[in-house]
Amino acid sequence: MCGIIGLVAKEEFGVRDELLKGLKRLEYRGYDSSGFATSNGDFVKTVGEINNLLDNVDKTLKARTAIAHTRWATHGGVTEINSHPHFNKEKTLFVVHNGIIENFQKLKEDLELEGYEFISQTDTEVIVHFLDSKIKQGKSVKEALLEFEKTVKGTYAILAINKDEEKIYALKKDSPLALGITKTGFVLGSDIYAFSDKTKKAIFFDDNELAEITAEKYAFFDKEGNEIVKAPKTFEWEEAKEQELDFAHYMIKEIKEQPKTSKRLIESLHTLQKDKLKEFAKLIKDCKKLFFIAAGTSYHASLIGAYLFNNQGIDARTMIASEFENFSLVDKDTLIIPISQSGETMDVVSVLKEIKKAGAKVASIINVPYSTIQRHSDLSIETLAGQEVCVASTKTFTNQLIVLFALAKELGYEMDIEGIPDKIQKTIDENEEKTKEIAKELSQKRDIFILGKGATYPIAREIALKLKEIDYIHASGMMAGELKHGTIALIEDGTPVISLIPKSDLSMDSSTKEVEARGAKTIIISNNGGDFIVPDSDDAEFAVYSTMIGHLLSYYIGVELNLPIDKPRNLAKSVTVK
Ligand code: AGP
Repeated sequence: MCGIIGLVAKEEFGVRDELLKGLKRLEYRGYDSSGFATSNGDFVKTVGEINNLLDNVDKTLKARTAIAHTRWATHGGVTEINSHPHFNKEKTLFVVHNGIIENFQKLKEDLELEGYEFISQTDTEVIVHFLDSKIKQGKSVKEALLEFEKTVKGTYAILAINKDEEKIYALKKDSPLALGITKTGFVLGSDIYAFSDKTKKAIFFDDNELAEITAEKYAFFDKEGNEIVKAPKTFEWEEAKEQELDFAHYMIKEIKEQPKTSKRLIESLHTLQKDKLKEFAKLIKDCKKLFFIAAGTSYHASLIGAYLFNNQGIDARTMIASEFENFSLVDKDTLIIPISQSGETMDVVSVLKEIKKAGAKVASIINVPYSTIQRHSDLSIETLAGQEVCVASTKTFTNQLIVLFALAKELGYEMDIEGIPDKIQKTIDENEEKTKEIAKELSQKRDIFILGKGATYPIAREIALKLKEIDYIHASGMMAGELKHGTIALIEDGTPVISLIPKSDLSMDSSTKEVEARGAKTIIISNNGGDFIVPDSDDAEFAVYSTMIGHLLSYYIGVELNLPIDKPRNLAKSVTVK
């Protein structure tokens, strides 16, 4: 949450065209407000999407060093004052920050005693005044940052610049930060999206590392201030190019890309990632306890993983990452499988840091290479879905399922994975028009229920999540068998109930009849007749095709309601705070 970027170059660059275009690539991390500052002392902050900032910046504004921020509000409302960068009284020191300063209240009180006045309600403002105070006591910015690190509690990726100094100072703990090496200088960013259009060569900050970056060179330091050597890494990444957006929204583009992205993953599981797949399966077979950890859509994928592995005789459980410590026990024979699109979800990262102490092994399923979760893993399979811009996950979910199918296959589950890309295409081709039609009706409803069982229970939850996050409709994805234990009281004349009925499951038919008998308007997704007919397959594969229908429905409901589909209110794609 929150995206930060910094640019330092040998020649002057256009702030609007270079810096803010880079910031725009991070907008999925938060879009409450944004702002930038340059080493010439220029700065602008605006509320709302980055386009508002672009409208307020002189096209001719240039700089050699600048930092910028896009905010997902944590402390303090969505106002211009609370936007980053924050600055000292003289407006000579500017700071952007991603993370949370937990002891900001105490730090603020101490600084107020020194005479500092706070103008915002943010936790971040303490950083700039703390540094300013130390600098005024005669310390260098580097020394001030090292002292800050010893005093502060919390999570942070911080970029700081001084007026009239062509240098960026960077500090990181828990929140992600990377340094991209370009032809003209350096780019700092919250993740590789910030600069993957400019370079595929980067250095990834580890916790408690500080760096000083000029256009000519960079230097990294440990928390004692000793210089450390860090080697650049080269990464592979498929860009989502804005100019190629021939769809109304990224969500529909990303849904329709899936025949291609799933095919690319399947090919790689047979070639480049083949050995990793085998090693991963061995870890699964050899462990005594297995837990998936994940959040949101990735958690739904993990439920399918647990279903498949249990099916193959492996005792596998899954846990929402933020509740892991309350419900699970880990030891050195435990295998933890984090699933994450971003690889940065803080709830997952926090669990990993704890379980590593118990000696558990970590094998992850990740979309973004060199992300924090991947770097904390003993082994990692990449889902290769490429950049996903829409805040809601679609193509990355499908590829997570495919990795799980491939692992289950290694464990003995029989399945035709190679046929999936074509069947995805068929599902879209044969059902898209109908989803538009039914979306019209559903867009007028306040509550929608989705029923599933076994491999389709996670899909019921996934469809419900999309209806909530994209369409702001209250939706409940349920185990069909549980309905009659209470929730059925909510069913009345016309209540929409989406039923996921793979042909093998007769009990789903009965649950559907039970709600119909109470007046529900059922919508059936099946591979054996119904409102939406998807290709013939087993239950696990059916999960993929029924998800397509659910994602298309939520997309077209969003279109009907004219909602900001790619950037729903209050959300951010990468949830890097707890
Ligand atoms: C997906 O549509 C969501 N916006 C969200 O639930 C997401 O899946 C969750 O935050 C986990 O993210 P991750 O996969 O990057 O870890």
